[in-house]
Amino acid sequence: MKLLEVKAESRLSKILIGERLDNLIDYIVDRKCIIITDSLVNKLYGKNFPAGIPVIEIGLGEKNKTLQTLQTIFDSFIWNEADRSTLIIAIGGGIVCDVAGFAASVFMRGMPFGFVSTTLLSQVDASVGGKNGVNFSGYKNMIGVFNQPEFVICDVEMLRTLEERQFKSGFSEIIKAGAIKNPGLFYFCEENAERALKLDQDILTHMVYESVLVKATVVEADEKEKGERRLLNFGHTFAHALEKTTGILHGEAVSIGMIIAAMVSEKMEMISENETNRLRKILQAYGLPVEPNIDIVKLFSAMQKDKKREGDFIHLVLLESIGKAVTRKISYKQLEQITNDLRSYF
Ligand SMILES: NC(=O)c1ccc[n+]([C@@H]2O[C@H](COP(=O)([O-])OP(=O)(O)OC[C@H]3O[C@@H](n4cnc5c(N)ncnc54)[C@H](O)[C@@H]3O)[C@@H](O)[C@H]2O)c1
Ligand SMILES: [Zn+2]
Repeated sequence: MKLLEVKAESRLSKILIGERLDNLIDYIVDRKCIIITDSLVNKLYGKNFPAGIPVIEIGLGEKNKTLQTLQTIFDSFIWNEADRSTLIIAIGGGIVCDVAGFAASVFMRGMPFGFVSTTLLSQVDASVGGKNGVNFSGYKNMIGVFNQPEFVICDVEMLRTLEERQFKSGFSEIIKAGAIKNPGLFYFCEENAERALKLDQDILTHMVYESVLVKATVVEADEKEKGERRLLNFGHTFAHALEKTTGILHGEAVSIGMIIAAMVSEKMEMISENETNRLRKILQAYGLPVEPNIDIVKLFSAMQKDKKREGDFIHLVLLESIGKAVTRKISYKQLEQITNDLRSYF
């Protein structure tokens, strides 16, 4: 087991990588708790949850990441006589963690919360960084708060039951962490694709640890996303639009988004074609898609609705090399020109 401590403005957060769900009990001794999970995780692992703790179950998928779901959670909190000292424990993927973290942050002006992160994506991304929230009116993560969990248990053993497509999609954020800030991790991913895909626990623990370290370092420097934290959005401006318009998984969209961002970097003469190809090759080794499944010009118009847009400019994360990302403020006009040029490549 590896421990990482994230010191953000709001709280010190302990990330326990390789810790087991079975040991959750050690972190909650003598505390009144409520568990929030989803129906599938409850079915698979409910029997392993610590006994005697009320469990609130939410439905599956983005359509449940809503204010309506929060309302049923708040009703259950009241019914279970939760108060400001009650520890809320999310056991599940990114959706459960995002919803539970938000519910805990606002109920009675804030309760403590912890996560048992059960998907690869949530272990490397959703559970670190303190962003919690729900979708609203068709916009993803529109309503939320920055608030750190007390602890995050990343049980890599639980990844064995993940559906293959969900599992593979998590590697996209690991490869992203390597591409933006950790060339050693990128190389490690290149060398160990086969073992990682076979769920080798040591390899996975190392990959999750190194990715969380990248995210934690960035978040510590810039919790509220004013500068450095933007680097984590590598591939995401395109990915959010792709996810919304085509419904593919977050990690799959990030994979395609990273290739587009790398090609934009290439167009701007920041990296070579070889580096884009290296990124493409590694994503393919993990079974991730590298081409958009819609016309790139349509993708561009969907992107203009992205909430991170600031006026006529966009902060685009580009690569200076594999392992070093930078943010460039470019105009939508310029980006439109570049995406039009990229059309012939897909
Ligand atoms: N807060 C953040 O910083 C952040 C970052 C990235 C993504 N997110 C959010 O995370 C969400 C996506 O997260 P996700 O990919 O984990 O999706 P998810 O929570 O929907 O989980 C995917 C599916 O896997 C199932 N599952 C979970 N753990 C399992 C296990 N161990 N075995 C078998 N099945 C399991 C779930 O029931 C679900 O059906 C999105 O809403 C996204 O916006 C948040
Ligand atoms: Zn992401």
